[in-house]
Amino acid sequence: MDQNELKNICQQTCKTANNVGNFLRDELGKVSNQQIETKSLNSLVSYVDKTAEEMLVKQLSAALPNSVFLTEEETVEQQKGEFRWIIDPLDGTTNFLHQIPVFAISIALQQNEETILGVVLEINRKECFSAYKNGGAFLNEQPIKVKANDQLSDSLIATGFPYYDFEREEAYFKLFRNLIHQTRGIRRLGSAAVDLCYVACGRFDAYFEYSLNSWDVAAGALIIQEAGGHVFDFSGGNDFLFGREIVAVNDGLKEEFMELIQTHF
Ligand code: IPD
Ligand code: CA
Ligand code: CA
Repeated sequence: MDQNELKNICQQTCKTANNVGNFLRDELGKVSNQQIETKSLNSLVSYVDKTAEEMLVKQLSAALPNSVFLTEEETVEQQKGEFRWIIDPLDGTTNFLHQIPVFAISIALQQNEETILGVVLEINRKECFSAYKNGGAFLNEQPIKVKANDQLSDSLIATGFPYYDFEREEAYFKLFRNLIHQTRGIRRLGSAAVDLCYVACGRFDAYFEYSLNSWDVAAGALIIQEAGGHVFDFSGGNDFLFGREIVAVNDGLKEEFMELIQTHF
């Protein structure tokens, strides 16, 4: 796909995200306890996630015929194909169900398993973060960059606390303890896609979390890279998409932050 086609698809994807975002915003506060299912420990879902996913699949299939899907709620069968969308229709479901206003739609497009486009819509602030391969990263069409900061003491860090997989809890909280003493502080927003985009636009300096899925991080990871930042697995390699661990960091703190991660994990 050439740069013009990519730019075009990126704009259409933002439009689609906005349409579905309107649906999600309208449903806020309407889901009853009876309509909430528990998929596994602390992993919740309702008709809202599923309907949003169906809407996204329908609109993105029309935008790119013959494309296939990998989606969190599995409303569509996974298939192999040159172009594959990786979608989280509602990132921050627990926030949504508790009416805490940080939740997003995350959409990535891969060509032959390489991510070429990412769109994350932070629904309540109507912030659409987007990027396509070699095209730069944007927030509502304005270019964004990671923060130019190389001082850990001036940094704000994002993370997701473990909530169902406690296997690496000890290492996690040792690092956490270390970071609260060395940084301006740590935030837990409750949406990995938003955490990643906030690193991309310089609100956070770094972010780390384990036990995530590809749909949580695929779009945000490309947005960070196109904004001049870095994404790694905990060993400093590239296995962050399916490897269930991710670190995102600005350029200036890359070495120091990765050293901290590697000392603890
Ligand atoms: C979750 C959010 C959360 C992160 C979880 C994810 P969901 O996604 O991104 O911030 O800590 O690990 O699963 O379930 O709301 O789509
Ligand atoms: Ca998610
Ligand atoms: Ca989700």
